[in-house]
Amino acid sequence: MTVADSEIVALLGTNGNGKSTLMKCIMGMVRPTSGSIRVIIDGKEFELVGKTTEAIVELGVGFVPEGRRLFPRLTVTENLLMGAFKKSARPKKDRNLEFCFEIFPRLAERRNQLAGSMSGGEQQMLALARALMSEPRLLLIDEPSVGLSPLLVARTIDKIKEMKEDLQLSVLMAEQNFTQAIRIANRGYVIVHGHIEFEGQSADDLNNNEIIQQLYFGT
Ligand SMILES: Nc1ncnc2c1ncn2[C@@H]1O[C@H](COP(=O)(O)OP(=O)(O)OP(=O)(O)O)[C@@H](O)[C@H]1O
Ligand SMILES: [Mg+2]
Repeated sequence: MTVADSEIVALLGTNGNGKSTLMKCIMGMVRPTSGSIRVIIDGKEFELVGKTTEAIVELGVGFVPEGRRLFPRLTVTENLLMGAFKKSARPKKDRNLEFCFEIFPRLAERRNQLAGSMSGGEQQMLALARALMSEPRLLLIDEPSVGLSPLLVARTIDKIKEMKEDLQLSVLMAEQNFTQAIRIANRGYVIVHGHIEFEGQSADDLNNNEIIQQLYFGT
């Protein structure tokens, strides 16, 4: 599968089909048994398989993990600063912090609140903002809508589109909420049992697909 420059690609698939595993492989957190994962950054191609997670982040790949994985006893600001661990992003952390607060005004209001005491929606915003602190070129987002009410799901998905446009990011987003995912995705893949079973070139393409109809709508 591929993600092109400035694209939002949806990775669709129901529980346990390998969405998170695929993302962990890209991030060097799970070693694939075979195959190759390549990124092209500023015209230079890099093989990711065999690289450490730190090296992959350093190249410009960011990750918003499933379940957010915040530091609950650290404040909003401290969580964001943890995202600026990448060497080249460290000197720019103050500027990027201000930038995150511009995109997510709620986080600015609550900059001194402990992350663990934020609402689910606020925590998801914080997880997204933390990933931006490493100035990624490609951002992997694993199930941003989990546990959020329908209104917040829509807002979170809108925010991802806004982030992508402001920063000219490429985004690979795993999402169970099919309807919301294809609202912003340019294209999508359906993963079943660890295999890409279908590649949709547009939202319509996905909407009308038989596998999608079976998996998501039981028809
Ligand atoms: N370290 C591991 N050891 C054994 N099995 C694993 C491991 N990690 C994942 N799996 C299995 O691989 C399958 C795919 O898991 P994965 O987390 O990638 O699914 P997913 O598509 O992200 O599902 P969900 O939508 O529920 O998050 C599951 O059956 C899971 O139990
Ligand atoms: Mg998962």
